[in-house]
Amino acid sequence: MEDKKLNDKNNREYKSDDLIVYWYPSICSHAQKCWRTLPQVFDTKKRPWVTIDGADPLDIIRTVDICPSGALRYALTENSKVDPRLANGPGSMEYTASQAETVNIRVVKDGPLLVKGPARLIDPEGNVLREGDSMVLCRCGKTKNPPFCDGEHRKNK
Ligand code: SF4
Ligand code: FES
Repeated sequence: MEDKKLNDKNNREYKSDDLIVYWYPSICSHAQKCWRTLPQVFDTKKRPWVTIDGADPLDIIRTVDICPSGALRYALTENSKVDPRLANGPGSMEYTASQAETVNIRVVKDGPLLVKGPARLIDPEGNVLREGDSMVLCRCGKTKNPPFCDGEHRKNK
Protein backbone atom coordinates (compact mmCIF):
# COMPACT_ATOMS: atom_id res chain seq x y z
CA MET A 1 0.00 0.00 0.00
CA GLU A 2 1.24 3.47 -0.82
CA ASP A 3 1.64 6.24 1.69
CA LYS A 4 2.05 9.65 0.11
CA LYS A 5 4.60 10.81 2.67
CA LEU A 6 6.94 7.88 1.99
CA ASN A 7 7.47 8.82 -1.67
CA ASP A 8 8.52 12.43 -1.45
CA LYS A 9 11.98 13.40 -2.68
CA ASN A 10 11.98 16.23 -0.14
CA ASN A 11 11.82 13.87 2.84
CA ARG A 12 14.83 14.18 5.13
CA GLU A 13 16.60 12.32 7.93
CA TYR A 14 18.67 13.93 10.70
CA LYS A 15 20.86 11.59 12.68
CA SER A 16 22.84 11.83 15.93
CA ASP A 17 24.53 9.03 17.89
CA ASP A 18 21.28 8.35 19.74
CA LEU A 19 18.42 9.47 17.58
CA ILE A 20 17.14 9.76 14.00
CA VAL A 21 14.51 12.39 13.23
CA TYR A 22 12.51 11.94 10.03
CA TRP A 23 10.88 14.85 8.27
CA TYR A 24 7.97 14.50 5.82
CA PRO A 25 7.27 18.03 4.56
CA SER A 26 4.35 17.07 2.32
CA ILE A 27 2.11 16.44 5.34
CA CYS A 28 3.30 19.27 7.63
CA SER A 29 0.50 21.64 8.63
CA HIS A 30 2.98 24.29 9.80
CA ALA A 31 1.33 24.27 13.20
CA GLN A 32 4.65 25.56 14.58
CA LYS A 33 4.59 23.35 17.67
CA CYS A 34 8.08 22.03 16.99
CA TRP A 35 9.90 25.31 16.62
CA ARG A 36 7.94 27.01 19.39
CA THR A 37 8.71 24.16 21.79
CA LEU A 38 12.36 23.53 20.91
CA PRO A 39 13.74 26.39 18.76
CA GLN A 40 17.34 25.32 19.42
CA VAL A 41 16.60 22.19 17.35
CA PHE A 42 13.77 23.18 14.99
CA ASP A 43 14.47 26.48 13.25
CA THR A 44 13.00 27.11 9.80
CA LYS A 45 15.41 29.98 9.18
CA LYS A 46 18.39 27.63 9.33
CA ARG A 47 19.61 25.05 6.81
CA PRO A 48 19.37 22.27 7.69
CA TRP A 49 16.34 23.37 9.71
CA VAL A 50 16.82 20.54 12.24
CA THR A 51 19.92 20.73 14.48
CA ILE A 52 19.86 17.20 15.77
CA ASP A 53 22.54 17.82 18.43
CA GLY A 54 20.86 21.03 19.63
CA ALA A 55 19.15 19.45 22.66
CA ASP A 56 18.93 16.31 24.73
CA PRO A 57 17.46 13.44 22.67
CA LEU A 58 14.63 13.06 25.17
CA ASP A 59 13.60 16.68 24.70
CA ILE A 60 13.57 16.14 20.94
CA ILE A 61 11.50 12.99 21.39
CA ARG A 62 8.95 14.79 23.55
CA THR A 63 8.70 17.58 20.98
CA VAL A 64 8.24 15.23 18.02
CA ASP A 65 5.54 13.43 20.02
CA ILE A 66 3.39 16.57 19.96
CA CYS A 67 3.67 17.15 16.20
CA PRO A 68 -0.02 17.05 15.18
CA SER A 69 0.45 15.95 11.57
CA GLY A 70 2.99 13.14 11.82
CA ALA A 71 5.38 15.17 9.63
CA LEU A 72 8.08 14.60 12.24
CA ARG A 73 8.91 11.10 13.48
CA TYR A 74 11.82 9.53 15.31
CA ALA A 75 13.65 6.26 15.83
CA LEU A 76 16.50 5.33 18.14
CA THR A 77 19.84 4.43 16.57
CA GLU A 78 21.19 0.92 17.01
CA ASN A 79 23.53 1.92 19.87
CA SER A 80 21.35 4.63 21.35
CA LYS A 81 21.78 5.43 25.03
CA VAL A 82 18.12 6.47 25.26
CA ASP A 83 15.87 4.09 27.18
CA PRO A 84 13.49 2.65 24.53
CA ARG A 85 10.66 2.79 27.06
CA LEU A 86 10.93 6.58 26.88
CA ALA A 87 10.88 6.60 23.09
CA ASN A 88 7.59 4.94 22.25
CA GLY A 89 5.22 7.92 21.98
CA PRO A 90 3.07 8.93 19.00
CA GLY A 91 6.12 10.31 17.18
CA SER A 92 7.95 6.99 17.21
CA MET A 93 8.30 5.13 13.89
CA GLU A 94 7.28 2.03 15.86
CA TYR A 95 4.10 3.59 17.21
CA THR A 96 0.72 2.29 16.16
CA ALA A 97 -2.40 3.22 18.02
CA SER A 98 -4.53 0.32 19.12
CA GLN A 99 -6.94 -0.75 16.38
CA ALA A 100 -9.68 -0.67 19.00
CA GLU A 101 -8.96 2.96 19.78
CA THR A 102 -11.62 5.48 18.83
CA VAL A 103 -10.59 7.83 16.04
CA ASN A 104 -11.00 11.40 17.21
CA ILE A 105 -11.48 14.15 14.65
CA ARG A 106 -11.27 17.59 16.18
CA VAL A 107 -12.46 20.69 14.36
CA VAL A 108 -10.03 23.54 14.99
CA LYS A 109 -11.67 26.96 15.12
CA ASP A 110 -10.94 28.72 11.81
CA GLY A 111 -8.55 25.88 11.02
CA PRO A 112 -8.11 22.28 9.96
CA LEU A 113 -9.41 18.90 11.10
CA LEU A 114 -7.05 17.12 13.48
CA VAL A 115 -7.34 13.35 13.06
CA LYS A 116 -6.03 11.25 15.96
CA GLY A 117 -6.23 7.49 15.87
CA PRO A 118 -5.61 4.79 13.26
CA ALA A 119 -6.98 6.10 9.97
CA ARG A 120 -6.62 5.52 6.25
CA LEU A 121 -6.99 8.42 3.83
CA ILE A 122 -8.26 7.41 0.37
CA ASP A 123 -8.38 9.58 -2.77
CA PRO A 124 -11.32 9.66 -5.25
CA GLU A 125 -9.71 6.89 -7.32
CA GLY A 126 -9.46 4.61 -4.29
CA ASN A 127 -5.69 5.01 -3.79
CA VAL A 128 -4.42 5.18 -0.23
CA LEU A 129 -2.84 8.59 0.27
CA ARG A 130 -1.79 7.98 3.82
CA GLU A 131 -2.20 5.58 6.70
CA GLY A 132 -1.32 6.86 10.12
CA ASP A 133 -2.29 7.83 13.62
CA SER A 134 -2.18 11.58 13.11
CA MET A 135 -3.17 13.76 10.17
CA VAL A 136 -4.10 17.40 9.74
CA LEU A 137 -6.64 17.89 6.94
CA CYS A 138 -7.62 21.14 5.24
CA ARG A 139 -11.08 22.50 6.00
CA CYS A 140 -10.72 25.93 4.40
CA GLY A 141 -10.10 24.80 0.82
CA LYS A 142 -7.05 27.07 0.41
CA THR A 143 -4.28 24.56 0.95
CA LYS A 144 -1.76 24.09 -1.85
CA ASN A 145 -1.30 20.48 -0.77
CA PRO A 146 -4.81 19.00 -0.65
CA PRO A 147 -6.20 17.24 1.27
CA PHE A 148 -3.55 18.14 3.86
CA CYS A 149 -3.54 21.44 5.72
CA ASP A 150 -0.41 23.45 4.89
CA GLY A 151 -1.14 26.42 7.17
CA GLU A 152 -2.71 28.59 4.43
CA HIS A 153 -5.87 29.08 6.54
CA ARG A 154 -3.93 31.49 8.75
CA LYS A 155 -3.57 33.92 5.86
CA ASN A 156 -7.20 33.51 4.80
CA LYS A 157 -8.90 33.58 8.22
S1 SF4 B 1 3.05 19.94 11.83
FE1 SF4 B 1 4.75 19.04 13.01
S2 SF4 B 1 6.55 19.41 11.74
FE2 SF4 B 1 4.95 20.74 10.95
S3 SF4 B 1 5.33 22.68 12.02
FE3 SF4 B 1 3.82 21.52 13.22
S4 SF4 B 1 5.01 20.41 14.76
FE4 SF4 B 1 6.45 21.12 13.18
S1 FES C 1 -7.39 24.41 6.98
FE1 FES C 1 -5.22 24.77 6.95
S2 FES C 1 -4.87 25.23 4.85
FE2 FES C 1 -7.00 24.85 4.91
